[in-house]
Amino acid sequence: MNNKTINSAAQQSGSQRKRPTQQQAPAALHSDHNDKRLAGSRFQAQAMAHANIALIKYWGKRNLHTPQLNLPAVGSLSITLDALTTTTSVCFSEHLQTDQVRVNERDLQARELQRISASLDLIRALAAAQHRTDISNCFAQVESHNNFPTAAGLASSASAFAALVKAATAAAGVQLDDAALSRLARMGSGSAARSIFGGFVLLPRGQRDDGEDAVARPLQSVAHWPLRVVIAITNSGYKSVSSTDGMHQTMQTSAYFRSWVEAQNADLQQAEAAIEQRDFAQLAEVSEYSCLKMHATALAARPGVMYWNPASIACMHAIRELRAQGHAVFFTNDAGPQIKAVCLPEAEAIVSASLAAIPGVQQLLCSGLGGAARVLDSQHP
Ligand code: PMV
Repeated sequence: MNNKTINSAAQQSGSQRKRPTQQQAPAALHSDHNDKRLAGSRFQAQAMAHANIALIKYWGKRNLHTPQLNLPAVGSLSITLDALTTTTSVCFSEHLQTDQVRVNERDLQARELQRISASLDLIRALAAAQHRTDISNCFAQVESHNNFPTAAGLASSASAFAALVKAATAAAGVQLDDAALSRLARMGSGSAARSIFGGFVLLPRGQRDDGEDAVARPLQSVAHWPLRVVIAITNSGYKSVSSTDGMHQTMQTSAYFRSWVEAQNADLQQAEAAIEQRDFAQLAEVSEYSCLKMHATALAARPGVMYWNPASIACMHAIRELRAQGHAVFFTNDAGPQIKAVCLPEAEAIVSASLAAIPGVQQLLCSGLGGAARVLDSQHP
């Protein structure tokens, strides 16, 4: 094992494991930077959500004339990750002149801020509909912390929007079930719909134009099959092409996009059956197939959308080599250069050691499967 940092979920043990080094304290409800006038606000809450990674990928949107609904072109299936979290505080106040959003101590502006405000607008409208009129006129102060690299293809938007809708609805006193929270989160980021739930999660494509049926649901609990995930960080910087832009470019120009959409249901069924039967070989085969097919459709866009670097490719080869040697591991990878190795617990040590030895791998994060998004604290009348 070389000296690359290994971050691990708290329950991990073993001499090569360290406590997570990037873990930050949860955002305080009344942090120093908060305006003093907000300290007494009756409408505030803090929530936490885990990131998730898709084994059967979502790539592409449907019904582009209703972009605000953010409807997926294909269904997807994910696992929720215990060690990767976003913690978000939301405070509504009549003293604010605009929404204010800080993510990891950075104030969001322009397009990023508008995306969060659009979600807050939906919650303000729901508050008005549920006769919480005091909140519908208030702007919000939002503070959010990720304990892992942001916007680097590690699904930070998934945990971010799940934590946001969970905290903001609790702060506003809006009563929603998990399906409705998932729908709200999806409008912020497609993958966020899945982070409302823990364990193994399905987000169907849905058929309806209003998106009421494009709502995630849990398939299996963490206890059903406690898989492990080793994430090789090969570049912790911001991704070059956002998933939204990459999807649009793929949809508009890739000759393979139509066949990607048409074949998705078969992959979802195969993965769902493999999970139900805890058939690792089946899940490995269909997950790598879905991942590589997603990237193939993106690579076939004009110009091609390319997320891998040389270390990403070396990791994928190493993982296949380990599997050929009999270790239960497969890879998946999203809109960034990080490689996620999904494995059985007994393979985790050798997977970690192999990936840590690859030139260009800067850091490893290790995680088990995590639970649902949850409210940590809330105050409203
Ligand atoms: O939810 P978005 O817009 O960040 O898109 C996520 C896309 C992938 O991560 C590449 C695949 C997935 O299903 O999570």
